[in-house]
Amino acid sequence: MSGKGLEGVVAAQTTLSHVYGEEGRLIYGGYDIADLAENVSFEEVCHLLWFGELPNQSRLDALRARLHEGLRVPAPVIDLLRQAGPESHPMAILRTGVSALSFYDPEAEDNSPDANLNKAIRLTAQTCTLTGAIARLRQGNEPVEPRADLGLAANLLYMMLGRVPDELETRIMDAALTLHAEHGMNASTFAARVTAGTLSDMHSAVVSAIGTLKGPLHGGANEQVMEMLLKIRTPERADAWVREALERGEKIMGFGNRVYPTTDPRAPILKRLAEELNRRGDGRRPWLEISERIQATMREEMDRRGKKIYPNVDFFSASVYYTLGIARDMFTNVFACARMAGWTAHVIEQFRDNRLIRPQSEYVGAPPRRVAPIADRT
Ligand SMILES: CC(C)(COP(=O)(O)OP(=O)(O)OC[C@H]1O[C@@H](n2cnc3c(N)ncnc32)[C@H](O)[C@@H]1OP(=O)(O)O)[C@@H](O)C(=O)NCCC(=O)NCCS
Repeated sequence: MSGKGLEGVVAAQTTLSHVYGEEGRLIYGGYDIADLAENVSFEEVCHLLWFGELPNQSRLDALRARLHEGLRVPAPVIDLLRQAGPESHPMAILRTGVSALSFYDPEAEDNSPDANLNKAIRLTAQTCTLTGAIARLRQGNEPVEPRADLGLAANLLYMMLGRVPDELETRIMDAALTLHAEHGMNASTFAARVTAGTLSDMHSAVVSAIGTLKGPLHGGANEQVMEMLLKIRTPERADAWVREALERGEKIMGFGNRVYPTTDPRAPILKRLAEELNRRGDGRRPWLEISERIQATMREEMDRRGKKIYPNVDFFSASVYYTLGIARDMFTNVFACARMAGWTAHVIEQFRDNRLIRPQSEYVGAPPRRVAPIADRT
């Protein structure tokens, strides 16, 4: 069968981002991801995705004010989060919370360009607030209110950890959000565009996307990477652990990406951020060293098997988030906070020139037949 997993299929045109797979390069609106991660804030990336250009100072100030306004989440939605049990996954809680936001959004059913832009801004900010509240509630703490003096990256950390992050932590979170904001027609973005393509509404589209991001083959991989690092525990154990897992036919989480037959360009940037965080630690955090050992073993094993499998965005983001003090099961929610900017930009783009997305399937079932009376059926 051709097209399994829709590999190689172009499902839409976009001005938002492009993956140059062979070269291992990713651009958002023409800007290289490394340039953006180094030089702009997440809010500036949001502006680029929603308005097509990086903002000047006054436009940035205006967007920051609107995002800050958007951080407010109606109290009943926070109360809804309290109903989740300890076994509910934070991404399931986020999916429910974001869906409930539509009850209180005056523009929930309005698909006009203005309303969709307003919702994009609100949803991106509110996802940070919900993520902060979910993290706090899971640890038995009360959610904290966002602070007017902090940007989105710092506010997200503040609302999750309950303390104001320092300059380095803020800069690293800003870069991590930038690197996760957008990535062409990835699975969750596709889900969002399929939903928008039926002329449903923006909340429905991003709820589809959150459910899709949750899976371990997509955004859920960062949590799995951390689980692996914690299981391996010490750098000396990494090599044997990886070889044994591969021997059992298992995949190593944080490796491989359909669109990169080479290193995912976001991985080395995240590795550098993890190094920066590590340098100022007490030197007892083994996560980066374990990750490097895994990377070396994977290089050897994949070369031997003739496969082009390299670290992806999730591999080093696990060490970054964990070192920042974020709980392992909250990693994918942080990814969702960033990707909300990309999803909403894609929904706006889909509505601008919509056509229903409706592929076909190849039928491999029974040949045509007639219904037998129930008494005659085996
Ligand atoms: C991302 C991913 C789903 C892409 O999948 P895909 O394009 O459908 O590629 P496949 O799963 O068909 O993999 C192709 C081959 O590479 C191998 N492979 C892919 N990822 C691998 C990994 N992480 N570890 C070991 N082997 C891997 C597969 O076993 C397969 O081998 P085979 O041809 O002998 O059966 C896949 O690489 C994966 O599952 N990675 C781990 C999860 C992850 O990190 N996801 C986050 C992506 S950003």
